[in-house]
Amino acid sequence: MLFQTTPAHEELRAKIRAFAEEEVKPIAFQLDQDNAFPDEAIKKLGELGLMGIPYPKEYGGAGLDVLSYAIAVEELSRVDGGTGVILSAHVSLGSWPIFAYGTEEQKQKYLVPLAKGEKIGAFGLTEPNAGSDAGGTETTAVLKGDHYVLNGGKIFITNAPKADTYVVFAVTTPDIGTRGISAFIVEKGWKGFSFGDHYDKMGIRSSSTAELIFDNVIVPKENLLGKEGEGFKIAMATLDGGRIGIASQALGIAQGAYENALEYAKERIQFGKPIGFQQTISFKLADMATKLRCARMLIYSAAELKEAHVPYGMESAMAKMYASDIALEVTNDALQIFGGAGFMKGMEVERAYRDAKITTIYEGTNEIQRVVISSHLLGKPPK
Ligand code: CAA
Repeated sequence: MLFQTTPAHEELRAKIRAFAEEEVKPIAFQLDQDNAFPDEAIKKLGELGLMGIPYPKEYGGAGLDVLSYAIAVEELSRVDGGTGVILSAHVSLGSWPIFAYGTEEQKQKYLVPLAKGEKIGAFGLTEPNAGSDAGGTETTAVLKGDHYVLNGGKIFITNAPKADTYVVFAVTTPDIGTRGISAFIVEKGWKGFSFGDHYDKMGIRSSSTAELIFDNVIVPKENLLGKEGEGFKIAMATLDGGRIGIASQALGIAQGAYENALEYAKERIQFGKPIGFQQTISFKLADMATKLRCARMLIYSAAELKEAHVPYGMESAMAKMYASDIALEVTNDALQIFGGAGFMKGMEVERAYRDAKITTIYEGTNEIQRVVISSHLLGKPPK
């Protein structure tokens, strides 16, 4: 395990940090207030070649590694957690299953525009009765000649309705559990495919999140992703990678809050000296920095494992669980250091505190991460 960044990684970090500081930070508060998507910034990310970071150049990507992608999500999230998850959901969830399981035709048609940032991707798994229990999927896809007919709905879908391309999971063979679920590529604009309202969320308000509604949507047979019945495994494998993205988002949010708190602790004078030089605050900062370093190590090493094509599902679950748990602690401590000032709207720590919470919930709650980790440790329970 090396998890050492190279000069090229740090150059990329500097490039994305500059972009985030110039293009996202100045508008982040207003996006949060308005529940508005950063259309222009996402377009520019595409133009910079950052929407397809880990995909080969032949498919429109930047041809960089998984660690580069993690750094990109971290740096965007450092100034705005919402913008970070737009990239994460697009790269890990909307694009990766097509890259990993798509036919050459599917890759040319769907992955190339996604990786070039010409289109935005999303992932439709969660349903009202299939949240943590993703195998409880109720959306159906019935084969009728040369097409499937898709009916049902999805909730809490990141990047909807902005996304153009959706990887959607539906039951093709009822009553056989997870082996009866298949994956499909579904395009926005198809007849019968509509969206519910854009949710009004507590945090990550610059990202869009909406319901997907399928009413007799005709999905051509060639849009089946992988084989019939492989959908659940595709979803699980996709989430293994997605969790590196969410861990990076959590890390970035926490890093931004920590840096703000560190600066404030040097400037704010109470009892005749900067509060950072009073032990109650200096020890808090020491704990925050240590937690950030641990989270970064876990994330970067999971990214390296994925890059090396060795099993990494347990490590990505550990990274996601730990980084999101400490993101809550670090943003809470950062706000505490700011005191009453941090409680005010317009303060970055106030937004970071709200943005951090979702990272312990989506792409598998941290309770589910513990299920995943312990199943790797213990194997299947005795019958
Ligand atoms: N890779 C490949 N295959 C896998 C796998 C993986 N990581 N994990 C499980 N599988 C396979 C199993 O081997 C098993 O295969 P067989 O049928 O051949 O035996 C099959 O999948 C079923 O596995 P389980 O019996 O373990 O499945 P389960 O029903 O007990 O569920 C679970 C396991 C881990 C709890 C799973 O339901 C899960 O991950 N739930 C959380 C769902 C989730 O993360 N949702 C997030 C939605 S997306 C999102 O949040 C995005 C966003 O907003 C940004």
